[in-house]
Amino acid sequence: MSYPNHGCSDEMKSFLLDLPKCEHHLHLEGTLGPELLFPLAKRNNISFPDDFPKTEEELADTYEKFEGLDGFLKYYYISMAVLITEQDFFDLAWTYFTRVHKEGLVHAEVFFDPQGHTDRGVHIDVVVSGFKKACIKAENELGISTKLIMCLLRHMPVSHCEETIQDSKKHFENGTIQGLGLDSSEANFPPELFIECYKTVSGFHPDVKLTAHAGEESGAINVVTALDKLNVTRIDHGINSVEDPELMKRLSDEKVMLTICPVSNWKIQLVKDISELPFQKLLDADVPFSINSDDPAYFRNYILDTFILVQKSFGWDMKTWVKISKNSIRGSWMEPERMKLLEDKVDQIYAKYN
Ligand code: ADE
Ligand code: ZN
Repeated sequence: MSYPNHGCSDEMKSFLLDLPKCEHHLHLEGTLGPELLFPLAKRNNISFPDDFPKTEEELADTYEKFEGLDGFLKYYYISMAVLITEQDFFDLAWTYFTRVHKEGLVHAEVFFDPQGHTDRGVHIDVVVSGFKKACIKAENELGISTKLIMCLLRHMPVSHCEETIQDSKKHFENGTIQGLGLDSSEANFPPELFIECYKTVSGFHPDVKLTAHAGEESGAINVVTALDKLNVTRIDHGINSVEDPELMKRLSDEKVMLTICPVSNWKIQLVKDISELPFQKLLDADVPFSINSDDPAYFRNYILDTFILVQKSFGWDMKTWVKISKNSIRGSWMEPERMKLLEDKVDQIYAKYN
């Protein structure tokens, strides 16, 4: 599907570029694109399975469309094998931060999947240290505020998740990791499997934040369970919440933000077209959401292109983007002073164009 340019004039594109943007749903391992994958494979002497694409071009073709969430995750997990050293994790995250800095990203709450690495013998401290160094550099040199969120892989045995939690304890206690999430295949691994895991991590630090992927490929019930049983304050994806009017009211009343990833939903074929996504229902019901890139190297859309594609599909006015931007700032886990500064910046950008 190619997108016509209606609703996205050059002026609108410039406005979207200028808006201070936040990401709350970005898997650092999902920024591992063909252009970094093959050099890292060479650097670390890693070979791929025989049926894995052999060139950047072949891989880019494969990434045009995925057979559902699992179809994408297959490539995501195989590719991780090239990440071995602290320098690899640093390079991956730093490449992402420098790129999105040019697209107007000012705040990034980023996910990582330690089990995808510890399972291959890479110690969690190596992963955390490489990613954290890139976060600190992004704050100091690019002015991007960051939070690091550790995700549990829900398809792994709960005992493996529990071991990972114990191995990560000191990083939560000293504030290096600030949040816990839950990702991977949703269909057969409902949130209730992870009640104890969430309870344990929330005891590590009084400020630890909780979120979970829910209502992506499965129904609204997983969103309700994540809220009720895991005590999350945010939901990743959550697009299927629109099936349940009571839940919609709750999300609006309790200001639970959905971190929506429109291009991801389209590329793994949860929807045929971005215009099918329930943004208008969410706006009408006053359910806060942010717009995110999820795994931009795989879905071939970083944050600005994602905003532009959404605009091409929905043709919103600038006031609507102001509302979305402010909800995205208020739903962030940033300090109140930074929130105020960024909200003021949104008003200034709006005034510049109106
Ligand atoms: N891991 C990386 N991207 C994901 C997604 N969209 N859903 C679940 N797990 C993921
Ligand atoms: Zn995700």
